[in-house]
Amino acid sequence: MSPQDRQKKEAARAALAEVPKGCWLGVGTGSTTNYFIQLLPKRWVKGAVASSEATAKALKRRGIQVVPMIPSRKLAVYVDGADEADPRLRLIKGGGGALTREKIVATASRKFVCIADGSKWVKRLGRFPVPLEVVPIARHQVAAAVRKMGGRPVWRKGFLTDNGGEVLDVHGLRIADPAKMEKRLEAIPGVVCAGIFGKRKANLLLLGTRNGVRRLRAGSKTR
Ligand code: A5P
Repeated sequence: MSPQDRQKKEAARAALAEVPKGCWLGVGTGSTTNYFIQLLPKRWVKGAVASSEATAKALKRRGIQVVPMIPSRKLAVYVDGADEADPRLRLIKGGGGALTREKIVATASRKFVCIADGSKWVKRLGRFPVPLEVVPIARHQVAAAVRKMGGRPVWRKGFLTDNGGEVLDVHGLRIADPAKMEKRLEAIPGVVCAGIFGKRKANLLLLGTRNGVRRLRAGSKTR
């Protein structure tokens, strides 16, 4: 196992302590989350809401009940990875293309526990391109709007999300204020979701490092 994978796995293991027994859980998507699913004891939670078809499959394979969104109540915890996390626990997500459902399930949860390896930690968001899920007929129009904002959109050709959307990965955006940029991007007609989690940021970041897992809350110092 590579050192990066070891960090992902250790962060995932640490997240188990954040999941109350018998709760309804939200589960994200990606390789770090997959470690979490592998480590989650079968009867630990009542059931889970998955942020993607892939996660739903993995949970079912583990014998964990998967339910659709529960309209009447919030999920206790949402556990998911990230492509970037800043010191205020704002995130870039969507490298795997599940950003829209991830934002929906994260927003429906009382607590968002983000699990990541050390490479995801950044002082300022924006090195990783910002994924945008777009309605297919709007792709060119969204790309033009994003270019006007100084971004370089790259179409993830041949990829469709679980919702039938297309994805543009936007390079080169200057993200001074993540929540503002998220709002601006999501105001472009045809954008379903921007992969900036500035409004619904994480409550806790479990960051795998060479020296173990660090528990970071917004504003805590890292190195
Ligand atoms: C999936 O769409 C993403 O938001 C993932 O959470 C993110 O890409 C992190 O993935 P890894 O855990 O595979 O690094």
